[in-house]
Amino acid sequence: MPCFANSCFGASSSAGSERVRMIQQEARLLQDDYTLGHSADEHERLRRQGQILAPATRRVFQAIGLGPGWRCLDIGCGPGEIMRLMGEMAGPSGEVTGLDRDTKAGREAIERLQATGTSRYRFIEADMEGIDEIAGSPFDLTFARLALLYARDPVALLRKMYSWTKPGGYLAVQDYYVRTVNLYPKLDAHSELVRVVLETHERLGHDMEFAFKLPVYFVEAGIGAPDGTDVNLPITPLEPFITMYQTLCRSLLPKAIELGVTTDARMQSVFRDAEQAVIAGRQHAALWPLMIGFWKRKPT
Ligand SMILES: C[S@@+](CC[C@H](N)C(=O)[O-])C[C@H]1O[C@@H](n2cnc3c(N)ncnc32)[C@H](O)[C@@H]1O
Repeated sequence: MPCFANSCFGASSSAGSERVRMIQQEARLLQDDYTLGHSADEHERLRRQGQILAPATRRVFQAIGLGPGWRCLDIGCGPGEIMRLMGEMAGPSGEVTGLDRDTKAGREAIERLQATGTSRYRFIEADMEGIDEIAGSPFDLTFARLALLYARDPVALLRKMYSWTKPGGYLAVQDYYVRTVNLYPKLDAHSELVRVVLETHERLGHDMEFAFKLPVYFVEAGIGAPDGTDVNLPITPLEPFITMYQTLCRSLLPKAIELGVTTDARMQSVFRDAEQAVIAGRQHAALWPLMIGFWKRKPT
């Protein structure tokens, strides 16, 4: 039986194990080993996170002049929050293409977005690192947010993204520098959630300081130094921060357990403590990961 985010608070350890088995099965069905998996809860987490990150992404799009008629490509589009922003700015004469390995997220995004009538939308199911040619390229904007962090070879992917960008068009990337994460006053449950997220990512080879290194990767990919940079560091109360970390932990729990970073029983207890902290309603100041954006105009 599915166990969705809120109903998992205080769930028994056996319900938690069932959930871990379900996530593992979904990953096997998709035949990939993506760190965060493809559960409905993870899609919902991405939609919620997308709302928090939307102002920063819109600012990057405004800086490069995304406007009516643009043809945009979003790599690692997930449930389509970035495509929505692109579509609103590109309008009915524009076109937005999302690419992801997660077919379910992509198809559902297209259904929802097409119903808005804001732009033309399409989805390509593909491995971003395996695909060479993209139908409809070159694009006015080739973009990726929180996707390069998960690439085995981000320099090779940047090189490809640049090749899918038309002369005079833009390549833009936003990603996380995670070391800024902090909470005042501290909470043990939160510190443990962060430890599990960081350790699991690092043990799987993901660089938690990735984003600030992007200018070097741009140059290594033959693109040249970025033309522009945008930084965004949200500070919020405990909610929605701790819920975001709980859902993130649930998404990567199968991997964390497999790697011996934590146990299911331990995490169920941490989730309960985190829930209690939210109910207690004490004022906290939560510092999020730093989101850094870079862009480059391809010479004509
Ligand atoms: C952290 S999510 C970010 C989603 C979206 N870009 C956002 O910012 O909300 C990373 C996305 O990249 C996708 N992804 C990861 N590795 C991929 C690959 N090799 N090929 C295609 N998509 C991939 C995942 O399925 C997921 O949807």
